[in-house]
Amino acid sequence: MTTIQPDTGATQTFPMMRRCPYEPPAEYAALRAAGPVVRVLFPNGLTGWVVTRHAEAQQVLTDRRISTDSSRPDFPRVMDDEPTARPLSAGFFIDMDPPEHDVLRRMLISEFSVPRLKKMQPGIQRTVDGLIDDMLAAGSPADLVKAFCLPVPSLVICQLLGVPYADHDFFQSRTQKFVQLDADPTEGFQAIAEIRQYLDDLVAAAEREPGDNLIGRLVTERLRTGQLDRDALVGMAFLLLVAGHETTANLLSLGALTLIERPETLAELTGDPRQWSGTVEELLRFHSIVDWAAFDRMAVEDIQIGGQTIKAGEAVFVLAASANRDERAFERPDDFDIHRSGRRHVAFGYGIHQCLGQNLARAEIDTALRTLFDRVPALALDAPVAELPFKYNAAVFGLQALPVRW
Ligand code: HEM
Repeated sequence: MTTIQPDTGATQTFPMMRRCPYEPPAEYAALRAAGPVVRVLFPNGLTGWVVTRHAEAQQVLTDRRISTDSSRPDFPRVMDDEPTARPLSAGFFIDMDPPEHDVLRRMLISEFSVPRLKKMQPGIQRTVDGLIDDMLAAGSPADLVKAFCLPVPSLVICQLLGVPYADHDFFQSRTQKFVQLDADPTEGFQAIAEIRQYLDDLVAAAEREPGDNLIGRLVTERLRTGQLDRDALVGMAFLLLVAGHETTANLLSLGALTLIERPETLAELTGDPRQWSGTVEELLRFHSIVDWAAFDRMAVEDIQIGGQTIKAGEAVFVLAASANRDERAFERPDDFDIHRSGRRHVAFGYGIHQCLGQNLARAEIDTALRTLFDRVPALALDAPVAELPFKYNAAVFGLQALPVRW
């Protein structure tokens, strides 16, 4: 293990890469041992802080003196390729601080309530079943990412927003391109422009005739009452797509891989399906697919945390993948154990920006993986794990493709 001294003048460069599909970057254990808050050196030569432990991660994510608003002129740019100030898109409240953030988030809370999710559940099940029917009809082998993991969240978001059935193919093909931004940036940016235009048209159609869906309700209750303008509404719909599509797809592909590789866990789940909810939580914790890239923050005042002083204006990154392997919070944190109790992980973040769609994500992952393994019990990998295309460089960790056979 590399030894890292706490705050010795920023010797440790950041960020670090994952090199194993089942582990956070190898350096995280040493960083965590060095301290809960450790000074690091960023690619552009600036220094700042990473938060390595679970308790301090929760503390930072609930501290009102920590900002996530990267449109601030004083927001520290620490990576090589960052623009000097990111323009803040209307409605994109994941990048906003209170009070603007809270006003917009509150408008969506009822859309993710337990009764609303109960209403969505039959549609999620139909979507999952339909995709498995198509995959089985096309025959073995298949790329599970393309045939299943990407379309599940894309079609569920269609259902949530009220995208008409006839437009599903268009929506899905553009969202797939948009997720492949790394592969071909030009096509990716083109797809983003097309989706935004599509969402704008969808809002315009809802203004004429609001349906019983998220956009219809926001038009009736917020747009017509003057609480929200059209740009912000489109931005909120776009945020749901950005935040809820690739994340869920990546956890589905990693979840399928993890369970294919663990036949004893699958056998246990078949015998006792009540274990599925613990399994979903453990997949979220264990893989921590959303790490530092989503948790870029700055201190707006000097704050004391974990024995360090973070000065106003300094950059702070929360290492969720480290916090979720913190031995102070989890016993045997590097073991995959579906019997852990509680939902203490920070895979959905913590505090005011904690994932708004977390219960929808749980419902999708549970329904999708449970149904997949029930209906295709012979599902197996069609390539060695060492040859699988993991997204080591992407902001959200996952798989580009998952070749399977049955
Ligand atoms: C496995 C799936 C998912 C994971 C791991 C995930 C993870 C996260 C994380 C870590 C954050 C906090 C970011 C921060 O603090 O800056 C977040 C925020 C958010 N997520 Fe998710 N997410 C998932 C699925 C979804 C889904 C399905 C939706 C909705 C369709 C969604 C909507 C949002 C929204 C709107 C926010 C912003 C909340 C706010 O700023 O108040 N997410 N998510």
